[in-house]
Amino acid sequence: MEKVKVALVGFGTIGSGVARLLLEEGPRIARGARKQVELAYVVDKDLKTKRNVTLPDGLLSDDLDRALNDPDVEVVVQLVGGTDAARSIMLRALDSGKNVVTANKALLAAHGPELFDKARQLGRTIAFEAAVGGGIPVIATIGQSLTANRIESIDAILNGTCNFILSEMEQHGSDYEDVVAEAQRLGYAEADPTMDVDGSDATQKLAILAQLAFGASVDWKDIPRMGIDSLAAADIQCAQGMGYSIRLVATARLGTAGLELCVAPTFVSEGTPLAGVQGAFNAVQIVGDAVGPLLLHGLGAGQNPTASAVVADLIDTLAGRTAITFNALNLWSKQTVGVPIRALREIPGRFYLRLDIETQVDAVNQIARVLQEHNTAIDSLAQYEDEESEDRAGMVIMTQETTEGNITDAVGQIEKLPFVQAEAVRCRVAD
Ligand SMILES: NC(=O)c1ccc[n+]([C@@H]2O[C@H](COP(=O)([O-])OP(=O)(O)OC[C@H]3O[C@@H](n4cnc5c(N)ncnc54)[C@H](OP(=O)(O)O)[C@@H]3O)[C@@H](O)[C@H]2O)c1
Repeated sequence: MEKVKVALVGFGTIGSGVARLLLEEGPRIARGARKQVELAYVVDKDLKTKRNVTLPDGLLSDDLDRALNDPDVEVVVQLVGGTDAARSIMLRALDSGKNVVTANKALLAAHGPELFDKARQLGRTIAFEAAVGGGIPVIATIGQSLTANRIESIDAILNGTCNFILSEMEQHGSDYEDVVAEAQRLGYAEADPTMDVDGSDATQKLAILAQLAFGASVDWKDIPRMGIDSLAAADIQCAQGMGYSIRLVATARLGTAGLELCVAPTFVSEGTPLAGVQGAFNAVQIVGDAVGPLLLHGLGAGQNPTASAVVADLIDTLAGRTAITFNALNLWSKQTVGVPIRALREIPGRFYLRLDIETQVDAVNQIARVLQEHNTAIDSLAQYEDEESEDRAGMVIMTQETTEGNITDAVGQIEKLPFVQAEAVRCRVAD
């Protein structure tokens, strides 16, 4: 059997999981790749931190050049996070004639066009299954298994940290801050969880799915995004009282007016697949015109699930399968004409609003008037007492269908009313 060398760059959480699989599951990997795979180099700038895998002596170094200059290295597995160093490592690996496997969604969302162009020019490939949905094979499903379909919509829970926080708040009635602290203690949330809870991470993944499923080239920063960081136990209780769960949902929906993209905390009806996604799990619901609705569910992060996807990509690359799909997909290519993206303000939806108000006689009328002025009809409105102050109350409004533009303008004006005490909490409502 032919022997090939592989270099791993980034020996952190995922890198050590990948190294363990390569060192312990050689025969299984060789059967898939039809080549004997030697993990020949592990490169990291941190040579001190102990990892949960023991490498053979001399494998770990901080010398990237040594790995890139070895002509027997066919694939570089790039598992450095962030965008700057990761971009430079990826470009250097491609320039050195290596195919690349990566799990880095931030890098692809920021530099996809440059990296994919470079790989195409050099006749190399980039595989990135682990960049979206961790262990869930969503890239292969959309990029290979569903190619007979026109994808109509994707509704996905793509961030396990947010899902853990929301489902814990739901199950235990806990406050947001307490659950974030618990998630950090259990290793589900980073010390600084901003990129997760403000929706950035899910939005970067949605930008990649939008390119893959719809050929849409969109800067992830241009996708409308709301996080879960403004939600409180009161919102979860209100949702439950109306038969909903709140989930951070990334949506891509192809309508006649173009592709609607957004990431937002969303009321999903109890009993629907997304409402049933618990803890750190992810789920991707895809509708294709031929296949109909399809659901993928699994662990979207973590060492072993992510390493599973990375090593599968490595096997596909070595077996020659990646080259076929990589060229067929033509991702982020100037030749690909994607669907037009619908302007944020036009995206339709129903909305949940929670307002913290100082009680006064005509508060309801004033709020209703502002909504009406912005073409937004109220479906239901409820007021509940504030347990800490009899002068204040919570107001919960469910709107009928309106647009993002209307609701944004209306909320901006409502927040300026003198009796409104804090920024409104807003969620989308999925029907
Ligand atoms: N963790 C997950 O569950 C998960 C899931 C899906 C995808 N991913 C993606 O997988 C990638 C790796 O994530 P991770 O959790 O394994 O990160 P990590 O634990 O921080 O590991 C990254 C490693 O790369 C090292 N590094 C940083 N800059 C480097 C450079 N210039 N040259 C060589 N090594 C360098 C880091 O060292 P220092 O610590 O000294 O910086 C660290 O040891 C990220 O892109 C992430 O988004 C992660």
